[in-house]
Amino acid sequence: MFSSIQELSDRLESAKYVIDPITLKVIFLASRMQKPLLIEGPPGSGKTELARVVALAANTNIERLQCYEGVNEEKAIGKFDESLQRLFLTTQGASWKGDWSEIRRDLHTLNFFVEGPLLRALLSEKPCVLLIDEIDKVNEEFEAELLEILSEWQISIPKIGTIQAKSKPFVVLTSNEVRRIGDPLRRRSLYLRFEHPTVERETRILELRTAESHPEIRAQIAGFGRALRGYSLEKPPSIAEMLDFAEALRILGVREITADLRDVLLPLIAKTEPDRKRLLLRDGFQSLMQDVKHYSQGVQDTGTQSEEQLCAARARY
Ligand SMILES: Nc1ncnc2c1ncn2[C@@H]1O[C@H](COP(=O)(O)OP(=O)(O)OP(=O)(O)O)[C@@H](O)[C@H]1O
Ligand SMILES: [Mg+2]
Repeated sequence: MFSSIQELSDRLESAKYVIDPITLKVIFLASRMQKPLLIEGPPGSGKTELARVVALAANTNIERLQCYEGVNEEKAIGKFDESLQRLFLTTQGASWKGDWSEIRRDLHTLNFFVEGPLLRALLSEKPCVLLIDEIDKVNEEFEAELLEILSEWQISIPKIGTIQAKSKPFVVLTSNEVRRIGDPLRRRSLYLRFEHPTVERETRILELRTAESHPEIRAQIAGFGRALRGYSLEKPPSIAEMLDFAEALRILGVREITADLRDVLLPLIAKTEPDRKRLLLRDGFQSLMQDVKHYSQGVQDTGTQSEEQLCAARARY
């Protein structure tokens, strides 16, 4: 998919995805070794987006299986198109000269099958990206079936038989850790752990993904995200929410985050009642603003230094 790490890096940069050098190498290895990539981490930390940008970077398409409780083979692999089979019988059945076993055979080919994302990925002539999103939502049985497909690169479909992959997709499995993914799948995958971003990384994401042109306010927003994540909230804000936050400030024409904006900003950053109450505490928001200042100053002045400096400040909460 990629001829060198540098090529992958350049293409991810063009796709506006911010990545550290180690993660970059792991992705390159996964593509070379044709190993699934298992990514765990908090909501909004860029797991799904990574699969999307890898497809973009490789100039290929993405097949996505969105997992949920009760997802089954039909959704993942596909099913016979019964109405098409009926239509075939109605229009062709009467004039059919051959025997019925032939009709039966013809009706049970891929021509009458609505392909699900797993089958589409294996039938793709060119390697695509197969995203199996939120795999922690499926049960162990389904996980075992996936395992078989991903290790043998073939799918068995009743009445059709075994279908071999035409190409091996680049597989990305994501999990929010609702259920622990089994060891057999872990064994076969390369594992990546995503965390909330550092202030520096989030500043860069804001630079690439928002229309905000002022570096100071970008650093302040990233500092704000960092401060909120250190504030023991029930639901700390994700990268996606901080991007929305930036957009809201832009719409409001705000050039500096100040405590008097608290009430209008709360719906963007406090998404549960306990979190809302906590941020409404007298002095709560004010002290948060102190941290924002330190964090955002850190990124503007010296890069990573602020993270360590502010451990002590975080301990206050
Ligand atoms: N490293 C990154 N570089 C650029 N943008 C990012 C990055 N990480 C996250 N984002 C932004 O955050 C958004 C949310 O990320 P994404 O949907 O991938 O999160 P997720 O980890 O899949 O969350 P969930 O578990 O809720 O599905 C992306 O659409 C993108 O705009
Ligand atoms: Mg996701």
